[in-house]
Amino acid sequence: MLCAAGPLVVLTLGLLAAGAAVSPRVLHESRSAPPSGWHAVRRAERDTALPLRVGLAQQNLDKLEDYLLDVSHPDSPNYGRHWTAGQVAQTFRPSTEATEAVRAWLLAEGVDAQRIKLSKSGGWVGVDVTVAEAENLLKTRYHVYQYGSEGRVTEHIACSEGYHLPEHVSYHVDVVMPTLHFDVKVRERLGLERRSSRSSKPNAEKMHSGIAHFKTVTKTESNPTDLADCDKQITPNCLRALYNFTYTLQATQNNTVGIVEYSPNAYLDADLDAFFGNFSPSLVGQRPGLVSIDGGYEQTSFAGISINGEADLDVQYAMALVGPTQNVTVYQVGDTVEGGTFNTFLDALDATYCTFEGGDDPSIDPVYPDPYGGYNGTENCGTAPLSYIFSTSYGFTEAYLGSAYIQRQCAEYAKLGLMGVTFIYASGDNGVAGNGECLDATGSESWDGTRFDPGFPSTCPYVTSVGATQIVPGNSVSDKEVACDKNIYSGGGFSNVFALPDWQKDAVQGYLTNYPPPYNGSVYNSTGNSRAYPDIAANGLNYTVVIDGSLQLVAGTSCAAPVVAAILTGVNDARLAAGKGPIGFINPTIYTPDFIAAFNDITSGNNPGCGTDGFSAEPGWDPVTGLGTPNFDKLRARWLELP
Ligand SMILES: *[C@@H]1O[C@H](CO)[C@@H](O)[C@H](O)[C@H]1NC(C)=O
Ligand SMILES: *[C@@H]1O[C@H](CO)[C@@H](O)[C@H](O)[C@H]1NC(C)=O
Ligand SMILES: *[C@@H]1O[C@H](CO)[C@@H](O)[C@H](O)[C@H]1NC(C)=O
Ligand SMILES: *[C@@H]1O[C@H](CO)[C@@H](O)[C@H](O)[C@H]1NC(C)=O
Ligand SMILES: *[C@@H]1O[C@H](CO)[C@@H](O)[C@H](O)[C@H]1NC(C)=O
Ligand SMILES: *[C@@H]1O[C@H](CO)[C@@H](O)[C@H](O)[C@H]1NC(C)=O
Ligand SMILES: *[C@@H]1O[C@H](CO)[C@@H](O)[C@H](O)[C@H]1NC(C)=O
Repeated sequence: MLCAAGPLVVLTLGLLAAGAAVSPRVLHESRSAPPSGWHAVRRAERDTALPLRVGLAQQNLDKLEDYLLDVSHPDSPNYGRHWTAGQVAQTFRPSTEATEAVRAWLLAEGVDAQRIKLSKSGGWVGVDVTVAEAENLLKTRYHVYQYGSEGRVTEHIACSEGYHLPEHVSYHVDVVMPTLHFDVKVRERLGLERRSSRSSKPNAEKMHSGIAHFKTVTKTESNPTDLADCDKQITPNCLRALYNFTYTLQATQNNTVGIVEYSPNAYLDADLDAFFGNFSPSLVGQRPGLVSIDGGYEQTSFAGISINGEADLDVQYAMALVGPTQNVTVYQVGDTVEGGTFNTFLDALDATYCTFEGGDDPSIDPVYPDPYGGYNGTENCGTAPLSYIFSTSYGFTEAYLGSAYIQRQCAEYAKLGLMGVTFIYASGDNGVAGNGECLDATGSESWDGTRFDPGFPSTCPYVTSVGATQIVPGNSVSDKEVACDKNIYSGGGFSNVFALPDWQKDAVQGYLTNYPPPYNGSVYNSTGNSRAYPDIAANGLNYTVVIDGSLQLVAGTSCAAPVVAAILTGVNDARLAAGKGPIGFINPTIYTPDFIAAFNDITSGNNPGCGTDGFSAEPGWDPVTGLGTPNFDKLRARWLELP
């Protein structure tokens, strides 16, 4: 028993502020044991300073989906009337009542009014206190914990069992920090230092960016220029022919497309020019714009296919496809010590997300200023400009991140969708097997697992997930593609966390009824009530990419994501040129019959994993290639008909 255990409800004995109702103490948050490896060594000293921060609950979150559909469903009279950042912040900002409840409680406990601060976003009430004051406020006990041994001891102050708030305050509060939350990365970092004596590379698996969804197939000498070679090597011209994307973008001033890269992944200038020299001569010398998040930059200290491959692929194809008239922006996230996560990326786009529901999870997300010697500025909050479209080819799984973490993040995609932003995510390269592992009977990831392991963010209903297709060897660009079955398999399947959205119901129920998968609920979420992915697909096999000076053939849903982002940027361009707004959150639109017919349905192939053949591509939507691959011209025409 480390923290005050106490019964669940303890009556407050302190004075109450005038007007505040008498309210019993309730256990607000608890944890049964410290994370493994940590142990308490002593009570925290009474006069140690703690920067106590009370994270307030946001308002109107229960209406988030309705708000989003109101501006994103093609049948809605408000289609396309996206919100400003100010409207979003105002709508979800914690209520004055919440701020006042916390302030009144602190005053009643004897905290001087001048010490109480409210953050700019309205999300946090902060007060610098001593351990003794915090213990009294939260009816808990703080201990000093240690991790490690022999001169590598790290200390951390925390309460491990639980803390209490008056009931009427608890109602308005998401989280109080520092309390139960450990910087678990300290542990990983100790491991990283040990390993780094043998390697000059950052330890990619301990960075926090998720897995880049690409693999190199082979090195190639040939430099194809003819469409007849597209069944062997993909070039930008093959993709233009496959997806009828020969359009020249025109509204270049206002349009944006963002390619998100997680450090130390970085493109190389020389690779871009070598690629453009072969496939897009007018782009030689052009570079994407850079939005630096938490110290991100195009680093050149670390190199190799695993460091440069993803970014070279993304930037070469996005720039080649949107062409010289449209600016591409790389959002480079994180320093080269810790990298970044989708959370630190989203923090930079929207200041309110930095604090939302307790903010980042230090066991997953990096902390800035970087305690390990990297970027020493403060974490970027709301400093990065938005793009209309973001393409991300990195991914985690639902199980790796946990359901509370992913639900919080998923809500943020909806908020940014309200502002007209489209999020494109690669669906993964391991079929139904997450990032390679499957789930065991307890729902944990394991190499021996047999249950399908859905990828995240792809299962978030508010992003658009993209699977991979290929040309059948011997076929041409005008033949129907199949699901990719060489080197990689499309991530796809059914969420264990997110419910089936209305706009996807017909598609998913049609698939489950007409082509019932040969597995029961012990293998995947077969309820028919959960969000299914991917939404669409594009070619993902044998892309010709210049990496570290040589031509490589690359496979992955990583190939498909920037291609779809470029094509949708063309649609946005056409709409902007016609005086309309961006397409924003596209899922409710693309699942309508009119739009379904604007995709090339893929009906052959599957996505094996977990010792099974996975699911099969079939007529109509399927959990391998979604609705199929885009036909730009048809999509542009349909989107131009919408207001
Ligand atoms: C991909 O490249 C490999 C290796 O060169 C080749 O065997 C295969 O036929 C190619 N497939 C496609 C669809 O391009
Ligand atoms: C491709 O787009 C052109 C117009 O750019 C159109 O005339 C043609 O019919 C389209 N082809 C297909 C196969 O949709
Ligand atoms: C860009 O946006 C501004 C303001 O919304 C508008 O006045 C202008 O016409 C747009 N320019 C183009 C090229 O679409
Ligand atoms: C492209 O975008 C970057 C970053 O937003 C900006 O710095 C640059 O000036 C832009 N270039 C053009 C030609 O618009
Ligand atoms: C941050 O890092 C830079 C470059 O390494 C250094 O010059 C600067 O003094 C550091 N600032 C702080 C506050 O540590
Ligand atoms: C299946 O999905 C639904 C909706 O997302 C969820 O409530 C349920 O817990 C999931 N079932 C399993 C076994 O994961
Ligand atoms: C699911 O099917 C397997 C055989 O494939 C069987 O062993 C198991 O009992 C079934 N589970 C349920 C819940 O029906």
